[in-house]
Amino acid sequence: MNTDNNTRATLGSRIGAILVAAGGSVGLGNIWRFPYVAGDNGGGAFLILYIGCIVLLGLPIMLAEMAIGRHSQLNVVGTYKSVSPAWRPLGYINLLISMLIMGFYFVVAGWTAEYFVSSVTGELAKLDSVEQYSAFFDTFRTNPWKPVLYSWIFIAVNHIIIALGVEKGIERSSKILMPVLFIILIVMSVNAVLMPGGAAGLEFLFKPDFSKINIDVFYQAMGQAFFSLSVGLGALITYASYFSRKTNIVKTAVSVTILDTLVAIIAGVMIFPVVFSVGIEPSSGPSLVFITLPAIFNTLPLSALWSSIFFLLLVIAAVTSTISLHEVFTLYIIEQWKIKRSVAAIITSAMAAVLATLASLSLGDWSGFTIMGYSFFDALDMFTSNILLPISGIGISLFAGWVLNKKILRDELTNFGELRFRPFSIFILLLRYLCPILAGVILLNSVGVL
Ligand code: PHE
Repeated sequence: MNTDNNTRATLGSRIGAILVAAGGSVGLGNIWRFPYVAGDNGGGAFLILYIGCIVLLGLPIMLAEMAIGRHSQLNVVGTYKSVSPAWRPLGYINLLISMLIMGFYFVVAGWTAEYFVSSVTGELAKLDSVEQYSAFFDTFRTNPWKPVLYSWIFIAVNHIIIALGVEKGIERSSKILMPVLFIILIVMSVNAVLMPGGAAGLEFLFKPDFSKINIDVFYQAMGQAFFSLSVGLGALITYASYFSRKTNIVKTAVSVTILDTLVAIIAGVMIFPVVFSVGIEPSSGPSLVFITLPAIFNTLPLSALWSSIFFLLLVIAAVTSTISLHEVFTLYIIEQWKIKRSVAAIITSAMAAVLATLASLSLGDWSGFTIMGYSFFDALDMFTSNILLPISGIGISLFAGWVLNKKILRDELTNFGELRFRPFSIFILLLRYLCPILAGVILLNSVGVL
């Protein structure tokens, strides 16, 4: 345990801890990725598997990460090392994942910022067919400098928040932005459900078609669960290292999991009815929110307003998530290299900017730059969500289940006996056996080893 506690920031209030952690979890994964992954994989049937993965894999790992982080009060590498030096490599894997996710996430975040600006200026509302929206997206995405510039702007905003520190930057921004996000989401989804034809969208989202379920859908559901909850890369270890001794970890983790899942479902409720009301196929891939939705907004009265609000929602979701990724790396540099926050943040931002630039260019001028047939951008997304996150999640559950002293976990989850946590033995069983075995089998199966 870190002894110079008093030099470390602490997240002030109880609601502060929940909003900060929820801010990290609720992101483009919920609003941009979930609807199209669900759409591509059978809607309601996918949802059931997804919720299964959340409860059986995501929540236990989140609880473990929070307990570990608050116990160590250190960055990821310091955390594993302080318990068992042999586990230090898991810390480096965590760092690698956070950096690789930043590489593609900042690109999409940049797109959301550009779409927000084009909505506000009215440029987006000038187009008037799905083809034109599609052409707009492709021209923008493949432009050699515009998307790069937008991702840099996004990185700069992140940089400022992180450089301001945990309380003044991360906590304050999450406390302002997350309530705004919830309000926008609710207004937009009520509007969507009221659209003519909206019921078909809800049916698509909620009515399970079990014939669609196969191991690949399972695999997608697992990858999405890890990515959406932000588990498996120590982001929650990092944030929980700032939790106060009074924070109720079980309540915080359960609240974050419920909020994250609700936001994904509400995003589906916001998007599918709109898509169905104009009779477009829901499984239109990542372009769903950048082509289909703007085209549909354009048919509504006050279209510029709706699309501005929608893209503002995406921008907010992206900011609160990217700062959690940035902090994983920045805190590591601060503590392990003993460097000031302001300089550590510059190093992280610069590395992220290089990767994001490559990822962005790989969709345009440098499209010849592929890895196993995937563009660098797609390779980053697939490799992190579907391979590295589950592998590292397995590592974290083994570490928490087998290596860490059980008493430490129990003390953290019960605040040293002050609270109750009845399912503790089930929790340990999940961490020791179910999480690693289930995640391992799905992973090996899908990469073709089993
Ligand atoms: N959970 C975030 C989202 O859903 C993405 C993320 C993953 C953020 C991992 C931090 C760490 O968009």
